[in-house]
Amino acid sequence: MNHSRIYLIGFMGAGKSTVGRALAQRLGWKFIDLDEAIEHAEGRSVATIFKESGEAYFRERERTHLQGVSKTEQAVIALGGGAFMDAGNRAVAEQTGLTVWLKVSFAKAASRVKMDGTRPMFASREQAENLHRSREACYTLAKVHVSTDDRSAQSVVDEIFGVIGNI
Ligand code: S3P
Repeated sequence: MNHSRIYLIGFMGAGKSTVGRALAQRLGWKFIDLDEAIEHAEGRSVATIFKESGEAYFRERERTHLQGVSKTEQAVIALGGGAFMDAGNRAVAEQTGLTVWLKVSFAKAASRVKMDGTRPMFASREQAENLHRSREACYTLAKVHVSTDDRSAQSVVDEIFGVIGNI
């Protein structure tokens, strides 16, 4: 494979973190969760960042941290569900690695995501469903598309592994 980074993109509940960890383990690469990196650096949760500093601040942190992690060699990087909506972020991911969309139906995403306040962009089912619909066009820009509905993380990893062997 010609890439030394794999970016997992997709809606909340697509399984980016779970699949990312398993894929990194299989490749013997590092796993980086962009939201966790931001939380660690800020010393507060994503939900608290949104509440105290607003979404624009979080998006700025997201862009900066993506720039940083895009220099790590041999890493599987899970992006938050909104990161790929930004054209600059898309360019960074495309230029520094392979982009993989973990595709999830809204019904499946809604069954996986707890509406417990930890995901500010999933505050209500209706709002999240609109968001899911509006983001689809951007997600399709990823190079590889893999559906995660009704599948184990291992089977998703197997599929990604098969695809990247041929790229
Ligand atoms: C967001 C998704 C979250 C997190 C933040 C915003 C979004 O990440 O980055 O709450 O805009 O879809 P996950 O997709 O990992 O839940």
